[in-house]
Amino acid sequence: MSSTGLLDGRTALITGGARGIGFAVATAYAAQGARVILVDLDAKAIADAAARIPRAEPLVLDVTDETATEAAFEALAARGRAPDVVVANAGILHLALATETPLERFEAVNAVNLTGAFLTARAGARRMGAGGRIIFTSSLFGIRGGAQNVAYSASKFAVVGMMQCMAAELAPKGIGVNAVAPGQIQTEMIEKLVADRLAMGLPDPRERLIARIPWGRMGAPEELAGTYVFLASRLSDYLTGQTIVVDGGWQVG
Ligand code: NAI
Repeated sequence: MSSTGLLDGRTALITGGARGIGFAVATAYAAQGARVILVDLDAKAIADAAARIPRAEPLVLDVTDETATEAAFEALAARGRAPDVVVANAGILHLALATETPLERFEAVNAVNLTGAFLTARAGARRMGAGGRIIFTSSLFGIRGGAQNVAYSASKFAVVGMMQCMAAELAPKGIGVNAVAPGQIQTEMIEKLVADRLAMGLPDPRERLIARIPWGRMGAPEELAGTYVFLASRLSDYLTGQTIVVDGGWQVG
């Protein structure tokens, strides 16, 4: 193991770790010396993902399940593996006009993106000491709303508010709490976004989206990982309550 990793000796738990952003973050954490616990509800995918990361442990868990989440964190603590870095990243998307969004879909999106993030962060905070870190994945849609995204955007704005509240509460304990707001990142979620729009009879948005990004392309999950490493490491001591936007310049384009 590297003796100079930024996360040597740390245990990091990442939800939504089977693929996309969560998997890239877990891979980068392990490369910096952390032991990683990969959480996902997709049992097959999480086993495959964990097998590709050194010292990684898969944990099948639905982040919306309060009892299971508390039990899983308690079991980790009992084994001396209470995470000192928790990344609440699991998320789902449902595109629809507000007037066409059924309550059931609105609640399902918020159950994962908001309630799930809350339950993960709360379980982590309850068992974390000084130097601990909580990192939420919000979104550009947590900074500014946009058409067809009412459920998702509501959940991601709420994540930013929750992050700020927890940052204020946990600062006296020496725990940093921050959020990352990614722009357009090439993952399966983008494929879902395209499929949802096509199903609504709307055009494929990719060309238009990319034209608005000064960097000239969507980001790769690996390009976000450095920000998550920074937020998990001693490099970000004294940083708390912030949302870091990683968007290839979208906001200034
Ligand atoms: P993804 O769809 O590739 O991966 C999400 C993972 O979360 C999947 O492995 C899925 O099985 C897991 N998951 C879903 N519901 C779960 C639950 N109830 N319990 C446990 N795991 C669950 O998505 P991606 O793109 O990697 O997104 C990760 C996070 O980044 C999400 O919170 C998303 O909203 C956010 N984000 C993504 C952007 C993008 O352009 N891809 C942009 C901004 C934010």
